[in-house]
Amino acid sequence: MNLDDDIIDFRSDTVTIPTEEMLEAIKYAKLGDDVFREDQTVNKLEELAAEKMKKESALLVTSGTQANLISLMSNSNPGNLVILESESHIYWYEVGGISKLAGLLPWPVKSEFGALDPKDIESSIHPSDIHFPKPAMVCIENTHNRHGGTIITPSQIKAISDVVKQHDLRLYMDGARIFNATVALKIDVKKFTRYVDNLMFCLSKGLCCPVGSLLVGSHEFIEKARKIRKLLGGGMRQAGIIAAPGIIALEKMINRLEKDHKNAQSLAEGLSKIPGIQIDLKRVQTNIVYYDVSHLGLSAEMFVSKLKDKGILALPLAEKKVRMVTHRGIESEHITKSIAVIENIVDKINSHTQVL
Ligand SMILES: Cc1ncc(COP(=O)(O)O)c(C=O)c1O
Repeated sequence: MNLDDDIIDFRSDTVTIPTEEMLEAIKYAKLGDDVFREDQTVNKLEELAAEKMKKESALLVTSGTQANLISLMSNSNPGNLVILESESHIYWYEVGGISKLAGLLPWPVKSEFGALDPKDIESSIHPSDIHFPKPAMVCIENTHNRHGGTIITPSQIKAISDVVKQHDLRLYMDGARIFNATVALKIDVKKFTRYVDNLMFCLSKGLCCPVGSLLVGSHEFIEKARKIRKLLGGGMRQAGIIAAPGIIALEKMINRLEKDHKNAQSLAEGLSKIPGIQIDLKRVQTNIVYYDVSHLGLSAEMFVSKLKDKGILALPLAEKKVRMVTHRGIESEHITKSIAVIENIVDKINSHTQVL
């Protein structure tokens, strides 16, 4: 963790900093102009990503948000309808780029744990009619952030893909944290990618890179995406300094996610024993822990500010929910300490409420 040692930062796995090995790799990376496709390190990373996902081609982009936007623009035409999960990152946290920049109509569909029900997809696909926009694609998110890092399993993806194919639409996966899903279920990432047309994953979250995401799909899709990346100002020059740590991430950092999951489990179990904190343990499947503090009689924002006073950083999510994410900067001692601190804060809140 790069912050003051006394601070335990659970806000996101994006706060991770590159490893020494990554910094060394950046120093010695073979560089070239990537808009001319002459950066050998970028080319190597893209080949590695495509091979890992068993797709034809890959493209390094600046962020997960840019990857999602490029995919929306590559898989559809302005005015089309896009079916996505109602708690998805694309719908909530990407500044409305889906409408403002891609010109698309998002069609949000609710789900219980983040996996769209194929029947709901079916009923959201508008028939061909003079009144309706043309549906173009379905987006899934895996793992699902706002549902608590939940996993969409390969069989769920297959069932979604069957409906999507029947209607001749494209299936895209925002796989920002797809390796958390593969590590948690101990299955190869190809099992998740085989049913989607294209996907993205992030290097800059649990895999600890400083920057970057990869879009992966067919040659045709990636060539279209490359042009749109340029349109959006995302054509990079000596991007090998971003790609070099990305190669290390793919070769060496995936298995370490298991430790984040163990820490998240311990944190969740500890929190579940604290009176007044409500947590749905079924949702704690990877490295994200959400819990509800409304029974303590204060808002998530107030609770998070009390945590901050004691050196623990977390994020409020809406009125009632607090989010804590485990990552390479969190050790098991941080978990033990944080549970004790939270217990103490809650004790004080509860005793104060009783006096009143
Ligand atoms: C599921 C999901 N998709 C996309 C993104 C966007 O990634 P970035 O922050 O790199 O734009 C995030 C970021 O947290 C995410 O959680």
